[in-house]
Amino acid sequence: MNPSPTILAIESSCDDTGAAVIQNSNILSNIISSQKIHSEHGGVVPELASRDHQKNIVYVVNEAMTKAGCKKEDLDAIAVTVGPGLLGSLLVGLSYAKGMSFGLDIPLLEVNHLDAHVLAHFIDTPAPSLPFLCLLVSGGHTQLVLVKDPLQHEIIGRTLDDAAGEAFDKGAKILGLPYPGGPVVDRLGQDGDPEKFPFNHPKVAGLDYSFSGLKTALLYFLRDQIKTDKDFIKNNLNDLCASWQKVIGDYLIVKLKKAIKQYDIKHVGIAGGVAANSYLRNSLHMVGKEMGIETYIPDFQYCLDNAAMIAKVGEYKYLKGEHAGLDLAPFTRVSK
Ligand code: KG4
Ligand code: ZN
Repeated sequence: MNPSPTILAIESSCDDTGAAVIQNSNILSNIISSQKIHSEHGGVVPELASRDHQKNIVYVVNEAMTKAGCKKEDLDAIAVTVGPGLLGSLLVGLSYAKGMSFGLDIPLLEVNHLDAHVLAHFIDTPAPSLPFLCLLVSGGHTQLVLVKDPLQHEIIGRTLDDAAGEAFDKGAKILGLPYPGGPVVDRLGQDGDPEKFPFNHPKVAGLDYSFSGLKTALLYFLRDQIKTDKDFIKNNLNDLCASWQKVIGDYLIVKLKKAIKQYDIKHVGIAGGVAANSYLRNSLHMVGKEMGIETYIPDFQYCLDNAAMIAKVGEYKYLKGEHAGLDLAPFTRVSK
């Protein structure tokens, strides 16, 4: 085992094809090719996503290797996302990684996409101290994750239905905004009044979340308003976006604060695509001040799907000697 390994990582779980090279804990390259085709369809079309990964993967991997100034012979291992994600998309990255691992006779390292979002916090320094609590908010998942060891994650809360990113995207769709709606709601909401249209927080016990009722509340609210003003959405778009991101952000933070108290945690972060949201980022900083804890937000490029975070988990696994076999199969959903 090389104590300062050079690892190529591949990410293809959804609609972004990514490749990155990590060497001795330094990210040398992080290339991402985001598929544009899905916005025409209002959501990710799995068949189109896997075909696009096939088109992009050779180029993305070569670009990552060139940017890192690396030759294939320099690699000590290949890390790859094995799930959760879209089956066809995962298969493209996994097959490519297996081919490289077999051809170069170097270990294959299996990476869970959600663990990688959480460990994005450990790419740059100062990294959080352990135990670390991470609110993982992406397009497909919402979890409160307690990290006691880099490779030991305990899920202490989760959504019972939609993910936070899905709530952003579905709300945006109801408002007539393009997919993915999260970044658009964020941008338009910055010029709006977040207090203008208050929505109630869903009631779910413990540290779990539910977002599907919020979407229905928005739908009914708009239906009633449109009866008296058919241009209600157009006339109030900024305030609606600001109010929508406030209810999602505040609800996320309420449970996060509950978990911080319950587990007496001093190091807390957010990760995943929704961690790019300006309202949520700001709210986390305020939680830090109010509760006297350290808060962390990964660099913007490490919040959205990327291969650098896959590389980071791969490095931990390589150093622990946790290699995968060539019979490694992808998985689509979280089993727990
Ligand atoms: O982690 P990610 O890139 O992909 C998944 O693994 O799902 O997350 C994508 C999600 C989408 O739902 C997108 O709308 C949301 O993250 N998102 C945002 C923002 N940027 C991305 N949501 C709110 N505000 C943003 N600025
Ligand atoms: Zn993701």
